[in-house]
Amino acid sequence: MGDELVNRDEPLVLGIETSCDETGVGIVRGTTLLADAIASSVDEHARFGGVVPEVASRAHLQAMVPTIERACTTAGVSLRDVDAIAVTHGPGLAGALLVGVASAKALALGLGKPIYGVNHLAAHVAVDQLEHGPLPEPCIALLVSGGHSSLLRVTDVTGAASGVAPMGATIDDAAGEAFDKVARLLGLPFPGGPHIDRVARDGGQVVIDFPRGLTSRRDLERHRFDFSFSGLKTAVARWVEARELSGEAVPVADVAASFQEAVCDVLVRKAIDAAASEGIEDLMIGGGVAANSRLRAMAEERASAKGIRVRVPRPGLCTDNGAMVAALGAEMVARGRTPSSLDLPADSSLPVTDVLAG
Ligand code: KG4
Ligand code: ZN
Repeated sequence: MGDELVNRDEPLVLGIETSCDETGVGIVRGTTLLADAIASSVDEHARFGGVVPEVASRAHLQAMVPTIERACTTAGVSLRDVDAIAVTHGPGLAGALLVGVASAKALALGLGKPIYGVNHLAAHVAVDQLEHGPLPEPCIALLVSGGHSSLLRVTDVTGAASGVAPMGATIDDAAGEAFDKVARLLGLPFPGGPHIDRVARDGGQVVIDFPRGLTSRRDLERHRFDFSFSGLKTAVARWVEARELSGEAVPVADVAASFQEAVCDVLVRKAIDAAASEGIEDLMIGGGVAANSRLRAMAEERASAKGIRVRVPRPGLCTDNGAMVAALGAEMVARGRTPSSLDLPADSSLPVTDVLAG
């Protein structure tokens, strides 16, 4: 990172992320990314087909100190240089969150620096500033991860004055969860999203016409900006079962591509509708599923036809990482938000609207 690009007046913020199976430590100065160190326990969970909370917590404990050291080395800073500590305090796995929150408190106390307990979901939105500059406000954020799928109207990413307002959310499975479940029934490894993305490249998007949840005229009356993926998952399961029963080979690439097309179609359709309905011209897409190549291409293509600009971080910043937490923490400092109290809790079911812990 060239020194000339870094404004030394901006706050140096270290962010810690431990809500699921990634131990992430990011360091930013203002909106400049200096380091994004990650240790993942995903391989330890793969044989169980999902994240095992206790295993994740232990892995965070082991990885925390080395990952902090790696981030500092990469950024070329010492812990004493850090102006503030930011940490994901929810939502996520309770035990996993606790490791991050306890580590952040220890750092804040030891260094005598403020601590900001921030919302993981808003951090998925704020991270885009590191790549594409200040987030346009207002904007619509389509947040799609393993645990959440929401459409948000963002007027202030730090959450002040209801700055992160939900327009809709999934009523059953999250988009990433649907990718993971469908991957499993196709015999692909966990987490399934990246594998579906990969094998779908060899399949046909329109081979199988899978259902688009909550898009009928009747559903739109009550659930215009909500999502539902569990019917789609069941439809894929039935289709695959029928093939297997008839003794025919399952065309994995075609099923993956058709399933992916159905998910992306609904996500993009509703996101564009949300932007149009609010007269907002900027759409941000964040969370692990935003790494999906088809979602990125489809959003770009359909939004530009409607005069809507799309911002999606590079794939490595879409999936869980520490840089996103540091980015949101730096925004808290920049906007003069009051730091959190040192007794801030880990909150596994933190609502998306609560961006900063008191
Ligand atoms: O944001 P994230 O890293 O963790 C949570 O906060 O949940 O999202 C993880 C989810 C997983 O379900 C994973 O399968 C999905 O994001 N994912 C993808 C891709 N990369 C990760 N889904 C579709 N296509 C991808 N390329
Ligand atoms: Zn996430």
